[in-house]
Amino acid sequence: MPRVLSCIQPTGSVHLGNYLGALVNWVSGQHDGDVYHGIVDLHALTVTETPHVLGNQTIELAAMLFAVGLDPNVATVFVQSHIHEHSELAWIMECTVSYGELSRMTQFKDKSAKREGDFISAGLFTYPALQAADILLYDADEVPVGEDQRQHIEITRDIAIRFNHRFGDTFVLPKAVHPKAGARVMDLQDPTSKMSKSATTDSGIIYMLDENSVIEKKFKRAVTDSDGVVAYDRENKPGVANLLDILAAASHTTVENLVDQYSQYGPLKKDAGDAVIALLDPIRTRYHELMNDRGELARLLSIGNDRAREVAAQTLGRAHNAIGLLPRI
Ligand code: TYM
Repeated sequence: MPRVLSCIQPTGSVHLGNYLGALVNWVSGQHDGDVYHGIVDLHALTVTETPHVLGNQTIELAAMLFAVGLDPNVATVFVQSHIHEHSELAWIMECTVSYGELSRMTQFKDKSAKREGDFISAGLFTYPALQAADILLYDADEVPVGEDQRQHIEITRDIAIRFNHRFGDTFVLPKAVHPKAGARVMDLQDPTSKMSKSATTDSGIIYMLDENSVIEKKFKRAVTDSDGVVAYDRENKPGVANLLDILAAASHTTVENLVDQYSQYGPLKKDAGDAVIALLDPIRTRYHELMNDRGELARLLSIGNDRAREVAAQTLGRAHNAIGLLPRI
């Protein structure tokens, strides 16, 4: 059984990109591997300055992860800041990655450009070192993520290779796994940008907790093009291609199966919206049930935290031994 790990940040509301690009696969994969899923609150700290926000966002995200179908008795769901080994291994990772490598990360370039004039934390720059720690702590073979995370998994491999070369075989080399459909869900209003919490307007983002009528409206207003032909061409017809991708992912079929069934944009938008509503409606109901039972949520999280802590402590110990730090006296 492969060891699988993937994480998500508790920054704002979970959207359709997170769901189709990541969470669907976490749920479908939970019985095929020994799986670990982290709510990475320390990563969110790179762009969060307001006090008393992250804790709430963390519990809301936990409720969402259980609502989409992660079973805490099968999948290990944990909170990053509850496992202190993440921060400790992150420092070792920072000393194993170079300034040049971190400077080439497109996510840092994008995020720091968007924050121009604002506070840009050093944590935003060293973010990939913490992400490498998340992955390597659990000896992950596979990391299921959307396309946007490809570079972060590659740098994790490079760090692991360098560490193993310097100090001896310690870390498992992970590989990124991308979903067939939904790996890159684009913004409905700006289909050349990925659907993202950091977009300037909400009208192109489908949030998991959006009401059905709101979802319907957002699909109806989705940006397409003026040539009126339904064809899959990401480059020249990004809006239509995105709708086809979303409909394929939401209705568990392929774009090839769909593309000939439509000759107009209106029905394509309607069907994409309906398929997404059918997918999200039951999840929303489960989410609200869980949010009304905080004691149960805390209990479910503690199951995962205990299991995660055990694995993380062993791996960190292995890394300390490999480096040859003086054992605790
Ligand atoms: P985050 O929190 O931004 O996103 C969580 C997951 O959702 C995927 N995703 C998308 N997939 C398709 N289309 C989109 N528009 C879209 N937007 C987001 C992401 O690819 C991701 O799989 N750095 C990570 C969190 C992280 C992590 C890790 C991931 C920290 N440590 C260790 C894997 C392993 C991030 O910011 O994801």
